[in-house]
Amino acid sequence: MNDETLSPQDIAKRAAGVAAIDCYVRTGMKLGLGSGSTSHWMVRTLGERVRAGLDVVGVPTSTGTAEVALEAGVPLGDLDDLGELDLTLDGADEIDRQLRMIKGGGACLLWEKIVATASKRMVALVDDKKVVEGLGAFPLPVEVVRFGWTATRRLMERLLAAHGLERAEVVIRGGPTTPLLTDSGNVILDCRLGAIADPDGLMVGLNGIPGVVENGLFCGVADKALVGYPDGTARELG
Ligand code: 5RP
Repeated sequence: MNDETLSPQDIAKRAAGVAAIDCYVRTGMKLGLGSGSTSHWMVRTLGERVRAGLDVVGVPTSTGTAEVALEAGVPLGDLDDLGELDLTLDGADEIDRQLRMIKGGGACLLWEKIVATASKRMVALVDDKKVVEGLGAFPLPVEVVRFGWTATRRLMERLLAAHGLERAEVVIRGGPTTPLLTDSGNVILDCRLGAIADPDGLMVGLNGIPGVVENGLFCGVADKALVGYPDGTARELG
């Protein structure tokens, strides 16, 4: 793809994805491979480096990323065989200056959190539009089991109200009759919140609700963030 067909945001995403390989990846590493368009730029670049002799093995965070990695020629392994990973590189939908994130815009948050927390280090790859002063403008995705999802939603709404989010709208992605199913066969409830005063507390609280499998708040997960810009440069956040 040449630059004329890319939006400024795509150029920024590509800059973060490509720079991540040069900055953080070394031969011999076991890598978590994130999901979404920014991560896919990283995975394609990784494929080029593998063809040039880099020796790595990747664990994909979604079936979509597995397909991109196979096409790019990145060797893949099983998380249960590889043990602790050296590094996960993954995108985000929002990130604040404490490196807390909202993820799951691509419905892959469960595998993403499992892989990131199975890694010694996690680096977030974002374009400059994703950096925010406070989380919450992006709807927070929550992965829940399909059985009894409306009951789960009721409990979520109560918890959100207790966090001062009485006006939250919680909608099932894809709609009630044709819900989107995640790679684990669950559904996603997107929470339109506006602003989240206590992301750390909400992250823990949501996961205490029966039916919630995982939520898209990633607090204390990222060690660093690499921000791409429309001029094609990338810099660490902070
Ligand atoms: C998928 C994710 C992605 O990392 C997030 O949605 C960012 O995607 P993109 O790089 O396409 O903007 O969390 O579940």
